[in-house]
Formats: sequence, structure tokens, C-alpha cells
Amino acid sequence: MKILKTPKDIIDFKSGLKTYNSWGFVPTMGALHKGHIDLVKKALAENDGVICSIFVNPTQFNNKTDLEKYPRTFEQDFALLTEAGCNAVFAPEVETMYPALPNLRIDFGNLEHIMEGEFRPGHFNGVGIVVSKLFNMVQPTKAYFGQKDIQQVAVVNRLIQDLGFQLELVICETIREENGLAMSSRNRRLTESGKEKAKFLYETLKKGQSLLQDGKDPAHTKELILNLYKSKPEFKLEYYEICDFENLEPLQTFKPDKKTAIILAAFFEEVRLIDNLVF
Ligand code: PAF
Repeated sequence: MKILKTPKDIIDFKSGLKTYNSWGFVPTMGALHKGHIDLVKKALAENDGVICSIFVNPTQFNNKTDLEKYPRTFEQDFALLTEAGCNAVFAPEVETMYPALPNLRIDFGNLEHIMEGEFRPGHFNGVGIVVSKLFNMVQPTKAYFGQKDIQQVAVVNRLIQDLGFQLELVICETIREENGLAMSSRNRRLTESGKEKAKFLYETLKKGQSLLQDGKDPAHTKELILNLYKSKPEFKLEYYEICDFENLEPLQTFKPDKKTAIILAAFFEEVRLIDNLVF
């Protein structure tokens, strides 16, 4: 597998493979797990070639410690991507992506003020900028994102529409550990027993789903779930929202025939975890 460091490397690499008509792109921040590899495999099945990017994007971190502590495991990532059959990894330096810090601000409307937007101010601006740059550099036919970052998917969808990127967004389902914990690069920072206990997050999503399906309204469901979190103070819940899947706005009434998403973020063992359930 080829390592590409600059946008020019990408152009040269792609033009060396002239018979490849479609390129899948999997943007990541590294510390790859089965969920990422699943995206790469899907991309390989649907395109002639696949480029994965590994770049820990400083502009999307609103917390310096979080940026510093973000796991960096390039050698392992490289081995996993090679084994999966990925054609190239784009792993630029910060100076390559940001010769100067961008003045550009992207306004994603209400998506910036709810859930991740509320708790991580500026996060989606950073995601929007880096994803736009990566799309411009890689020029993929299809880009693959995991549904675990459901609000990021909504933001990227808007970006594609608003800026007219000529590519298809492919959303792939969340890959989970056997106990239900959503796979995430951040899980590496959990202790072994923590990984077991953190299944509680998924359990509260499932519980919320069954309360709604049993006829409880969203407000009452949320109250019952918040009580569950009160009994487990080791989980510091940031938000637990029952939303309309289409626009991620909080739901007043649950309609079984309309797609619903329950979305949460919580700190556990000082690691910030997010998850969601769509039904
Ligand atoms: O989901 C991620 O890993 C990041 O937000 C992304 C899309 C690679 C942008 O930095």
C-alpha cells in the first residue's frame, strides 16, 4: 500500500492508475478499528480503488487535552489497511493541510447548536473545513462515513449539497463489540473492565427504544433514562436526545412509522463516548 503525504502525491498516484474509473474514500483520524476496516472493505467492493486518509485534524478539537490524548497508531493502522487491501493511505502533516489557519467559517445552522454542536463549539466548522479540503484533494467517486457520528453525517451531507461536491455519500452502520459497545478509536483509552461496563450506553439506547415503542412519550422516556444515569454517576451524561432522523430535531411525539434516532454523549473513565440508535 502506498503512503501519500501531499495533494500532489495523490494526483500522481491516481494518474498512474488510469484504468481505475472510480475511487472510494474513507476519511479517518487513525487509531483504526474494525468499524473503519468495514468502511474500507465496503469501499473496495464498490470502487476500482480506495484511498483512506489518516489525519488528526486539530481544527475540530475544542479541547487541547482531547487533541493531545487522541491515539496515534500509524504503524498498526498501516498494517490493518494493507491487510484489508486498501490502495493508498493519505497521511499529511498538519502544515500540509493548514499552511495557514483558515479564516473560513462554515455555518451549519441549527446542527451547530444542538448535541455535539452545543457541547463542542467550533467542532463542525473544523470538520467541514477538513472534509472539504480532503474531498478537493482526493476527488473521490464515493465517500464512506460511519453512522456512529450521526450528526457529522448530517453536516457532511449539507456540505456536499451546499458546495456541490460531485460524489456520493455512503453511510455505513455502526459496528459494535459483542457486548453492544460501539467501536471507536477512543475505546482504546478505556480499561478492560471499563470496556465491559461501557455497554451501559448502548443498553440505555435500547431501553429508550423499547419505552417509546411501548407508548411512552419522548419527554417521559428521557426522564426515565436520565434517572438510570443518576444511579450510575460514573457515567457523566452530556446529552440523550430523541430526534427526528431526517433533521435531528428533538421529537415531541414518537411516531412508530417515522424514522427516529436516539443520540447520546457521555464521559466514562474520562473518555468522551458517543452513540446512537436509529429505528
Ligand atoms: O470522523 C472522523 O474521524 C473525522 O471527523 C473526519 C471525518 C476524518 C474529519 O477529520
